[in-house]
Amino acid sequence: MIKKWAPENFELETTTIWSFPNRGNWATHDGKYRGNWSPYISRNLLLRYTNIGDLVLDPFIGGGTTAIEAKLLQRNCIGVDVNPKSLELCKQKCAFSCPNSGKLCLHLGDARRLDFLSDESVDFICTHPPYADMIIYSKDIQADISRLPVQEFLKEMEKVAYEAFRVLKNNKFCAILMGDMRKKGHIIPLSFYVMQIFINAGFSLKEMIIKEQHNCKATGFWRTRSMQYNFLLIAHEHLFVFHK
Ligand SMILES: C[S@@+](CC[C@H](N)C(=O)[O-])C[C@H]1O[C@@H](n2cnc3c(N)ncnc32)[C@H](O)[C@@H]1O
Repeated sequence: MIKKWAPENFELETTTIWSFPNRGNWATHDGKYRGNWSPYISRNLLLRYTNIGDLVLDPFIGGGTTAIEAKLLQRNCIGVDVNPKSLELCKQKCAFSCPNSGKLCLHLGDARRLDFLSDESVDFICTHPPYADMIIYSKDIQADISRLPVQEFLKEMEKVAYEAFRVLKNNKFCAILMGDMRKKGHIIPLSFYVMQIFINAGFSLKEMIIKEQHNCKATGFWRTRSMQYNFLLIAHEHLFVFHK
């Protein structure tokens, strides 16, 4: 039973620092899909970069946060994921009816090969890929890039970036959330590597937003380690908005 259709007192973000201590629980949103992003992020992006009736693509749809927001905000959405379980969850989460809602099309597929989409057919891309193998989403799905270590992951993200550039209409936007990692005491700036990959694919960088992280499940373990080995806890991700 849905109690709230929209966040209370919502205001569009106006600066390059975004922070949502309460991740958002309106409509069917919840934090159960591991590593899902806050619906405040997709809501802000959709309201700022799209119009009613636009076609939005999320090629790493996961538990369906973007799809729910697109439906509520009367945008049409194509959600792609390699994992049938994610698509099933997404379908369940979007099985509500609301007046004038946008249409949803789910596709079991690979963000690196969106053959079913023609060139320049999408109005906005809004997505949240895995952060290399920081969270591994499946054990045996070959095409799941969350199984790949950093260097291999980055090679595959080149294909994602070229495909995103191909299917996006000219003069439109593509937003990607990406986190960084720490290995052997040093930062691996995964987000900046991914940013450069999208620039190399032809995009220009419109915005670079710092998104503060809250309720990170690993915080307890890392807090102890950070004191023991003297390093800072990573408490933000980067949200890049690219322009084609
Ligand atoms: C960080 S999650 C997305 C979470 C989503 N933003 C949400 O709020 O639920 C990343 C997703 O990418 C999917 N994935 C991994 N490799 C993929 C690929 N090659 N093509 C499409 N999806 C992929 C995983 O199955 C996972 O669901």
